[in-house]
Amino acid sequence: MPLPGQSNLLTLPPGPTVPRPRTDAGCDPRGVVREVPVQASVAVTRRIPQNGIDLLRAHCRRVDVNPHDRAPTRSELLELIADRDGVLTMLNDRIDDEAFDAAGPRCRVVANFAVGFNNIDIAAATRRGIVVTNTPEVLTETTADLAWALLMASARRIVESDRFLRTGRWNGWGPMQFLGQDVHGATLGLIGAGRIGTAVGRRATGFGMRVLYCDVGSQTNPTLDAMGARRVDLPELLRKSDFVSIHVPLTDQTHHLIGRDELAMMKPTAHLINTARGPIVDEEALVEALKARTIAGAGLDVYENEPALAPGLTDLDNVVCLPHIGSAGTTTRAKMAELTATNILAVLRGERPPTPVNPEVLDR
Ligand code: DGY
Repeated sequence: MPLPGQSNLLTLPPGPTVPRPRTDAGCDPRGVVREVPVQASVAVTRRIPQNGIDLLRAHCRRVDVNPHDRAPTRSELLELIADRDGVLTMLNDRIDDEAFDAAGPRCRVVANFAVGFNNIDIAAATRRGIVVTNTPEVLTETTADLAWALLMASARRIVESDRFLRTGRWNGWGPMQFLGQDVHGATLGLIGAGRIGTAVGRRATGFGMRVLYCDVGSQTNPTLDAMGARRVDLPELLRKSDFVSIHVPLTDQTHHLIGRDELAMMKPTAHLINTARGPIVDEEALVEALKARTIAGAGLDVYENEPALAPGLTDLDNVVCLPHIGSAGTTTRAKMAELTATNILAVLRGERPPTPVNPEVLDR
């Protein structure tokens, strides 16, 4: 349904605006905010937990939230973000030069409700002096939990066997039913050893697993090294791991990092887990590998062209597909809402936001 206009948005009454917000002394109930912008106009591209909206509304003259329970269309997005001091975006909003033009010259901050920010043209934001922020740390453990849920589900064929039972096909216990892979004692390969990769690796100690990792940077990871993990190159990791879990950000370098050749290096008994970003894996090549059983299974939370899936993917029994719910814990999403709102308010007050992506803008 097209966005009929600003009147259809959840909004506070408009008032006069000035390019640089005047600030008043004030205090958020949790003591987060002391200096308060009173003239700012902010757009939120999707309903988020109410604490984030309340925090913005307590301190901004106008806060408009996309009223639809879906991502805005491109034209809705451009209309919603027009002439704003700040914009709170989702990982599926493409924020490029066209969007920055729509937001207009007042725009000083784009706060992404995600740790990943591949949807935002950071170079364009930096050129325009716009601060971009993300939500690291607060979602690390929740996303690591989900990577493990996918790993376990894929290894032990949880979804496939649940579906079998629900569709009335189970005629009693059988010694050869739904044989899967052992997780304990197996080898876990982490592609990316940042915050989430490390948290996934930490959980492996309880399962007595060997951990291998590779990363784009040159540093080793002290947390993983302390638990006996070994840094290797990507081909060795793919050849030796029983479970390969992806935790690198999506960049030009990581696009299709896992393609036909890399899938061919994996063991026929191995499982691929992706909770990072879909385009890191060539999804068509993955469907072929799963269909031909050159790998045993996959657990996916992210896809190359969300929400579309590669043809044939969901016909396969040896893949578990989730609708991008990595950080979808109630407490975590509330923390993400608070952090995005706090980032916006900090920039609008002329202060350093907690989690900038392009801090060079602040240092000018
Ligand atoms: C992120 O924050 O980048 C996650 O993908 C959200 O679930």
